[in-house]
Amino acid sequence: MEALRQPIVCVLGHVDHGKTSILDSIRGTSLMKKESGGITQRIGATEISIQRIIEISGGKISSKMFKIPGLLFVDTPGHVAFANMRTRGGALADIAILVIDINDGIMPQTVESINILRKFKTPFIIVANKIDTLAYFIKPENTSFSEFLKEQRQEYIDELDNKLYAIINQLYQHNLTADRFDRITDFTKNVSIVPSSAKYSIGILEILMTISGLAQRFLTPSIALINNLAKANVLEIRREESLGMTLDSILYQGKLKTGMAVYVNTSEGPKETKIKALFTNVSSKSTKVTERSVVNSASGVRIAISDKLDVIPGTTLIEAKGDIDSIIKELQEESQVKIDLDEHGITLKADTLGSLEAVAFELGTRGIKIRSTQIGEISKRDLIDVSTLPDQMDRILAGFNVDLSTDAKNNLMNYDVAVVASKVIYSLIEEIEKWLKNKKE
Ligand code: GTP
Ligand code: NA
Ligand code: MG
Repeated sequence: MEALRQPIVCVLGHVDHGKTSILDSIRGTSLMKKESGGITQRIGATEISIQRIIEISGGKISSKMFKIPGLLFVDTPGHVAFANMRTRGGALADIAILVIDINDGIMPQTVESINILRKFKTPFIIVANKIDTLAYFIKPENTSFSEFLKEQRQEYIDELDNKLYAIINQLYQHNLTADRFDRITDFTKNVSIVPSSAKYSIGILEILMTISGLAQRFLTPSIALINNLAKANVLEIRREESLGMTLDSILYQGKLKTGMAVYVNTSEGPKETKIKALFTNVSSKSTKVTERSVVNSASGVRIAISDKLDVIPGTTLIEAKGDIDSIIKELQEESQVKIDLDEHGITLKADTLGSLEAVAFELGTRGIKIRSTQIGEISKRDLIDVSTLPDQMDRILAGFNVDLSTDAKNNLMNYDVAVVASKVIYSLIEEIEKWLKNKKE
């Protein structure tokens, strides 16, 4: 059996349903028993070794059950970054956790998440979070879900079941058959739901066990740690005084080294540059970053590059080795957003390729046509272009997660163009629909 890298586990779901809290809890639970080792907090990513999961399970699982070295959890702040991370190569999220607030149930971004998971055929589990907010809750001594249940009164258990059945029904309406993880007999037909409280760390053990099981079941060649070209998905671009350009990325294949020549996707197409420095353990909370000369996949990593380049977030960084033409071709293809454009329709701008795709996907399901798409802020040039379109119905510029340039702001009144911008996908779509409806009448 060849070596496997740790599967990348994306955590997604509706805003405020507790994705980050669950990851915090996973980190906390994991750190509780031992201070370090086996767990590393990285850029937007939490790495946990299978050894650590086995320790936490207290013997409930054995190392014989797992061939994977661990799990790399990737948090998704809102759906935008998620689409962003999921876009290229399809390789980034191997499996996923869909977090649902047990009281709220299925919300718009939950549905959107389910659609994205379907689109990419990503296996996932569901976490029904915030079970501590239900009536009759008794603060537990033991936080494994099954032990926790034993400490609860029947009223609580009934309440929990009611809420879970409501969610199971809602899921069923979205063509998903799901059940509580400990009631499932056929895991190929049902999606597991793990009830949890990130606040009290209830169910974290079961989340880790269920997701490890899922990872093991869906082991694919994509996580084989073969001598592949290094590939990383660039999440965020920063300009730092001392370092110059840095790219916060998830390395999902191969290894990166300082001095290595790499290709990145810029607004002017694929460009070659060199890795100046590599940093791991970067988190918003800690200032203690670790400089590394080599980083193995899968890992969150901050990559400092030698050149000042306008790298597009959501694209791939690829090691410049072997067949360079095919690397360039691959990058060119990914920067060509796969969105069906029409002769008529709206003009769409967004901050990343992933978010362009996410909005286009949602517009498509509503039959709203797109004439043109572009990454970047809304410029005066855009105002001019769109306002001079012959068809009145086409004179709408939609911006997702982008601002208007100062020039555009100052000239907004001078052009016959509707500008709608939002950081929330559904408000944006609502605004577009409203405008189209009014214009038609
Ligand atoms: P976004 O990243 O903004 O989409 O949100 P999120 O899904 O990461 O949610 P986050 O972890 O930020 O939690 C949102 C709020 O819910 C915070 O106030 C948390 O303290 C609270 N919260 C999260 N999990 C629990 C839980 O299990 N119980 C209770 N009572 N509150 C929780
Ligand atoms: Na939040
Ligand atoms: Mg969050």
